[in-house]
Amino acid sequence: MSTDTEDAIAVVKSQIGALRPKTGIILGSGLGPFVDSVKDAVTISYADLPGFPEPGVGGHAGRLVLGRVAGSPVAVMQGRAHYYESGRADAMKTPVRTLAGLGCDTLIVTNAAGSLNREAGPGSVMVLTDHISFTGVSPLFGEPGDDRFVDLSAAYDPDIRAALHAQADSQGIPLHDGVYMWFCGPHFETPAEIRAAGILGASAVGMSTVPEVILGRHAGLKIGALSIITNLAAGMSETGLSHAQTMTNAAVAAVAVQALLTGYLAGRGA
Ligand code: HPA
Repeated sequence: MSTDTEDAIAVVKSQIGALRPKTGIILGSGLGPFVDSVKDAVTISYADLPGFPEPGVGGHAGRLVLGRVAGSPVAVMQGRAHYYESGRADAMKTPVRTLAGLGCDTLIVTNAAGSLNREAGPGSVMVLTDHISFTGVSPLFGEPGDDRFVDLSAAYDPDIRAALHAQADSQGIPLHDGVYMWFCGPHFETPAEIRAAGILGASAVGMSTVPEVILGRHAGLKIGALSIITNLAAGMSETGLSHAQTMTNAAVAAVAVQALLTGYLAGRGA
């Protein structure tokens, strides 16, 4: 474990008393308000946590919020670092390992994504079944030890997916399944890249999540992932793509994702 991780864990433990989070959650674009539902919240700025990022994207704060949602203990990251900010695929290494070191056994990752599935248009929600990396990099580059050869054959936990689907059904929220393809960004994809992604089996594209999933599996965490669809992918609609559009449409579907997360956490219990 790196010193940053040990130091970050110590900072958090010194502030949360007996609370032991079971679920780590990384909030993507538009989902920041989810932290308002954390009860008895302890909020720690990333600036006070060694190895945590200072997120540079509009719509991302840099805070770790610990407490309970629906009675279940959580550690919520409001804001993440993206590969495209630094060119470092391991930018989320310390945060993910800190969540695991605090006792979380599960990591729920959320993001905003473009859809290749016209049935899952802007404002809809997708639970990820798998991913494709189109970046050529790994957050585990340079990692020593045989456990770096992480098995990703069931990276997206089937039980978590089933629990999210059960929540979606009971709350009447349409929930699509999909394969997420990670592009490096910060530019959006070209229409030709999106056609290629479709041929390769992608249902959604985005610029995050995959590094955290790989780091999470390496740390032994069970993974669930939800995408807020903010747009049809490049070349699939008349409208061009922009970050402003991402933020506007993310806010629409964020309500549904928050309801899914809250219901899922209620099922996890104390
Ligand atoms: N591509 C990549 N990332 C995204 C998109 C997209 O179309 N929409 C939101 N994040």
